[in-house]
Amino acid sequence: MDNNNKSIMVSKRVKEISYAIREIAAVANEVAKSGKKVYYLNIGDPVFYDFKMPKYMSQALADASFEGKNYYVDSLGVLELREKLSESIKKKYKIEIHPEEILITTGVTEAIFFILATILENRNELLIPGPSYPLYINYAKFFDGIPVEYELDESNNWEPKIDDLRSKINDKTKAILICSPNNPTGSMYSENKIKEIINLAGEYNLPIISDEIYEQITYDKPFISSTSLSKDVPIIGLNGFSKAHLATGWRLGYLYYHDPENKLDNLKTSIAKLARARLSSSSVAQYAAIKIMKNPGTHTKEMVNKLKERRDYSYNRLKKIEGITCVKPNGAFYIFPKIDFSEFTKWKDDKEFTIDLLKKTGICGVYGSGFGNFGKEHIRLTFLPNKGILETVYNNFEEFLK
Ligand SMILES: Cc1ncc(COP(=O)(O)O)c(C=O)c1O
Repeated sequence: MDNNNKSIMVSKRVKEISYAIREIAAVANEVAKSGKKVYYLNIGDPVFYDFKMPKYMSQALADASFEGKNYYVDSLGVLELREKLSESIKKKYKIEIHPEEILITTGVTEAIFFILATILENRNELLIPGPSYPLYINYAKFFDGIPVEYELDESNNWEPKIDDLRSKINDKTKAILICSPNNPTGSMYSENKIKEIINLAGEYNLPIISDEIYEQITYDKPFISSTSLSKDVPIIGLNGFSKAHLATGWRLGYLYYHDPENKLDNLKTSIAKLARARLSSSSVAQYAAIKIMKNPGTHTKEMVNKLKERRDYSYNRLKKIEGITCVKPNGAFYIFPKIDFSEFTKWKDDKEFTIDLLKKTGICGVYGSGFGNFGKEHIRLTFLPNKGILETVYNNFEEFLK
């Protein structure tokens, strides 16, 4: 048998994974190779732009290594870091989350992986916002689950449509995921909507998974914590150091359980088993984080102030363009304009539009359909670049649409 030319087979579950944010980057690389300047508005990483990690943080990371903290640590996370996080949650949300109810992960990404690995199988369903951060869709499918999108209502500041959410709950539903401030819309769910979701979850005995990675990046109103609002409905909160602390490369996140009635006991035990199987997350990053939390700097506040200006600028430019409508984001660093394809008939859909925009102008956004069905006819742009770059981007964008 001649097997020399046969490509090694890969599993169907991996073949199905797609991540538009990175896929568009491959097209951008081709465009850059041809000599054209590319304006990267596709990457949700502040460190890629003019936001730099403060020196004392880099120093804390180096110190941790020089102090010899280069070993595997507790699979659940270094206790002192979990204690610090517990204190910080108490201060912010006025809720007691014991350090044992906190698990340190390799980014929120790993936390989502652990949770979905634990709750999904046999085509069980996970309710996720639509449009949706693609990771939820990918991991849900990866674990043989079905990601079911409940609609965020663009005409109402991208608030979740509670009737739609309710109509999608059935015997197979395992959890409701909320993401606020949201990727890709940049909107925050209002307190009332969060309360309605908590009531609904309580009615159907479902836990809420709350992705709070953009908690500290808000512009017009403060973050609303579902944990503070929930008396008895279990919340699994997800957060980390990537965005607010300009430490995307540290890969440091955590999950916490707000579980007043101990409904999550089985889930906690299973997630801890998964955590032990992968040994631990980065030791040096954890020790550095302890130091930072003891003596936090002002970098997050400074970043948010800078971003607010860039948000305002991007929004003001986009809203003046005919055929484009846009909700003003009040958190995160994404803006998600809608393209009126009845006006712009030249392009078949958002993907074709985004790729053509990239090839002709160098502006690299992410096509909305990469964020699920409710993302169609949109493009996601970050407002992370400085104002000079944004000015060129929106001049080019206007020119392109003419
Ligand atoms: C909503 C959301 N959750 C999670 C993540 C990933 O976070 P981490 O770097 O902690 O893995 C991102 C990254 O863009 C995100 O937008």
